[in-house]
Amino acid sequence: MKIIIGADHGGFQLKEELIKILNNFHVQVIDVGAFEYNGSDDYPDFAIAVAKMISNKEGDKGIIICGSGVGASVAANKIKGVRAAVCHDTYSAKQGVEHDDLNVLCLGGRIIGIEVAKELLSAFINAKYSGEERHDRRLKKVLELEK
Ligand code: RB5
Repeated sequence: MKIIIGADHGGFQLKEELIKILNNFHVQVIDVGAFEYNGSDDYPDFAIAVAKMISNKEGDKGIIICGSGVGASVAANKIKGVRAAVCHDTYSAKQGVEHDDLNVLCLGGRIIGIEVAKELLSAFINAKYSGEERHDRRLKKVLELEK
């Protein structure tokens, strides 16, 4: 599995820690930046970079970290084919994939610590879209909006 990850200054430190941990998940990781801490950088630059790669199928799942996760999810959801959400509980991180085909997990580097983030990554990465009829029916209604 190929994971695309990006973060602004609000998520930079957590991103650096998560990249080390992702190596233990036996996934390929592509880091789109920020590559150094810059307190003036802008979350849309990294959120859009991750989202475009997911949209272009250059990666399987994305992770975007900003201060709260909110700005990242708002920006990423503007890109066609991207379903991004802030999930700070493992139920949502898993169920979001299984029911809603979530393909980008957004995290708040100012909200959660590394241990919770590890659990969330595990829930998100290991989950698969169920493809059940009722979920497909609902997802199709959402995808219609992109046409
Ligand atoms: C940046 O200071 C902060 O506003 C940003 O990381 C994020 O929290 C936006 O949602």
